[in-house]
Amino acid sequence: MSLTEQTRSEILRVDSVSKTFGAVRALHDVSLSVSEGECRGIIGANGAGKSTLFRIIARHMSSDSGHVSYRGKSLAHSPAHSLAGMGLAIVFQEALPFQDMTVQENIMVGGHSTLRHGFLAAMLKTPSRRVEENEIRTRSWEIIDRLGLSDIANEHAQELPFGMQRLVQIGRALCGRPRLLLLDEPASGLRFQERNALAEVLKKLISEGLTVMLVEHDVRFVFSLAESITVLDLGEVIAEGTPQEIRENPQVIEAYLGTAANA
Ligand SMILES: Nc1ncnc2c1ncn2[C@@H]1O[C@H](COP(=O)(O)OP(=O)(O)OP(=O)(O)O)[C@@H](O)[C@H]1O
Ligand SMILES: [Mg+2]
Repeated sequence: MSLTEQTRSEILRVDSVSKTFGAVRALHDVSLSVSEGECRGIIGANGAGKSTLFRIIARHMSSDSGHVSYRGKSLAHSPAHSLAGMGLAIVFQEALPFQDMTVQENIMVGGHSTLRHGFLAAMLKTPSRRVEENEIRTRSWEIIDRLGLSDIANEHAQELPFGMQRLVQIGRALCGRPRLLLLDEPASGLRFQERNALAEVLKKLISEGLTVMLVEHDVRFVFSLAESITVLDLGEVIAEGTPQEIRENPQVIEAYLGTAANA
């Protein structure tokens, strides 16, 4: 372990998490630890348990056993909707929830988790609340610019292809100013140039201190961004290491990389 790794604090810890669906063992005794500022790639074949792991971290489902903690605190009693306000944002492969809202409006909704003045202030449209709304609006336009979404900022979500909707979901998550961002296959459905643009944006955000966990089948994409990789196979962690170590690991080659089309 390098000196920098020793001095960085842990942001997320998964301890011996297991989950079964009937006869399917989706996760078995999965443990991992992610440090502040790290980009961790999670790879593995279809059905390896990657999205299940994210759903458990996101509190969309509970594990059969094991624990997840964020910034030293157990998430066992944190409802899913409270996580964004804690700085933990997760983007799944789902369509945008507000299909009749524009791209800019959808992104702005993500900023509401950072509001300090609540419901009553919103009803009364107090000056402090208006200042906050304006801050979020400004932030949403900055994110639109960064993600290269300016041309479609006023289009409705329902008019966008699925890949672009995911990019907007990422924008929405960023508007909540996350410390830790979990992305489930962010590059799927994006064209080559959109993928490269997304990789550049993520690189910049990571260099600014954002911690990222990235599930991705595009091995080139994940290896170019991640500092460390965890490999899942049939619900178990079979390897963890730097991209170089993972690329050369015979068990990983056998279980996944050997068959990954773009390895
Ligand atoms: N809600 C569910 N009900 C029943 N089985 C499920 C459910 N969610 C996942 N599974 C099963 O659990 C296993 C792990 O699924 P998961 O979606 O986590 O895999 P994954 O690694 O994300 O795969 P992919 O790369 O295809 O997205 C699979 O066998 C899947 O069929
Ligand atoms: Mg998945």
